[in-house]
Amino acid sequence: MAPACDPGVDGPGDNNDPDDRPTPADEWNKKLDARKPDYNAALRIASLRLIGELPTMTQINLVANAADDAGKKAAYEGLVDSFLADPRFSRQMMVYFRDLFRMGGTVNTVDLETAPAFAASLAVANDSYMKLLTATTGTCPTFNAATNTFTAANCANNVTTHAGVLTNPGMNAHFTSNFAFRRVDWVQRTFNCQKFPADLSETPETYGGKLYTGKFPWLSVAGKTNGGRVDFRRPVGGGMSCHNVMNHIAPLFANFNETGQMTAAIAVKTPLGANDLARATDFLPAGEPFAYRLGQATPDLPSLGTAMAADPEVARCAVKRFVNWAQGKEEITTALTLVPDTVIQTQTEAFVASGFKIKDLIRGVFTSDDFVKF
Ligand code: HEM
Repeated sequence: MAPACDPGVDGPGDNNDPDDRPTPADEWNKKLDARKPDYNAALRIASLRLIGELPTMTQINLVANAADDAGKKAAYEGLVDSFLADPRFSRQMMVYFRDLFRMGGTVNTVDLETAPAFAASLAVANDSYMKLLTATTGTCPTFNAATNTFTAANCANNVTTHAGVLTNPGMNAHFTSNFAFRRVDWVQRTFNCQKFPADLSETPETYGGKLYTGKFPWLSVAGKTNGGRVDFRRPVGGGMSCHNVMNHIAPLFANFNETGQMTAAIAVKTPLGANDLARATDFLPAGEPFAYRLGQATPDLPSLGTAMAADPEVARCAVKRFVNWAQGKEEITTALTLVPDTVIQTQTEAFVASGFKIKDLIRGVFTSDDFVKF
């Protein structure tokens, strides 16, 4: 009769017997399942993140002295609610969004505070995150660090219809560059949580012996053979994998000058000559419409903002960034601190169902099992 367990060469569990070896997922699930809630440890981190200070002894004891886990949980969550209502939360949101937007203060007389202040004011008011892409008024508030308060204001940079921070003068000034590509790169990293290339095709094609992974038609972007002065379609260098999307968006930002003022014509330069201004045909052949993604025409910045606000990837990115912040992880596009979509599914569904309310999302992150269990 065969032995109960499979002895393998070196006996039960000998690792050279695949039937015996636990799968990596099992190992990790075991570790995850073994975590236990530690509300005092969670309190310490939550307090530092949400109000920028350590919890008081009274707050620590409130959790520590609670009769049981349910009592500790209730005490902890009550304190999280008090932190979210605390004026110091405004200051923390300013710090968060200055870091996320990679801008702040004043540079060359241009105020780089209004975009972070607008975002922070939405968080404090528990307003919709998507107003960062769609708001038409009040997008240039000021923040008073002495009182931790915001004063609403409209941006005054000659824009007819604003689209959240996409039309913000500070953002467009700070990320000014040839062909406005740095502004497009900023938008992609900030709201889609990944660098270019973006929106890869499942059926890549080959041009000039090189793989093209983009979705836009090959000839929908300018090159030396269809009116452009820069050959973005040069197979060597794989430019089209990135520029197929970038070149369909960049013209929307090209009329902002280097101080973030909207002008009547293209104001960004090229690397082709000292003061050489970019031309519409440098980006796309004549008649090719501006678009966020293939099939999503966006003739102006408000329609770009609306298309992005409807993109599930943008909602997931917002959740991933707050989860990484709560857990003290580095910036997602530079440090590749990736968060699997499955891990944040519940929080993303709640975020979408709430109408993208920021403070509710933050509360969900700081009271989630992944945050309170260690
Ligand atoms: C045929 C190859 C390529 C060509 C001809 C090309 C052309 C250009 C030009 C002319 C600029 C403006 C540079 C400047 O500021 O003077 C630029 C910027 C940029 N390109 Fe490309 N590119 C190519 C490949 C790529 C690839 C493969 C990627 C993505 C991995 C990419 C992503 C970007 C980004 C993000 C910027 C903005 C950089 C910044 O200012 O921060 N490019 N490209």
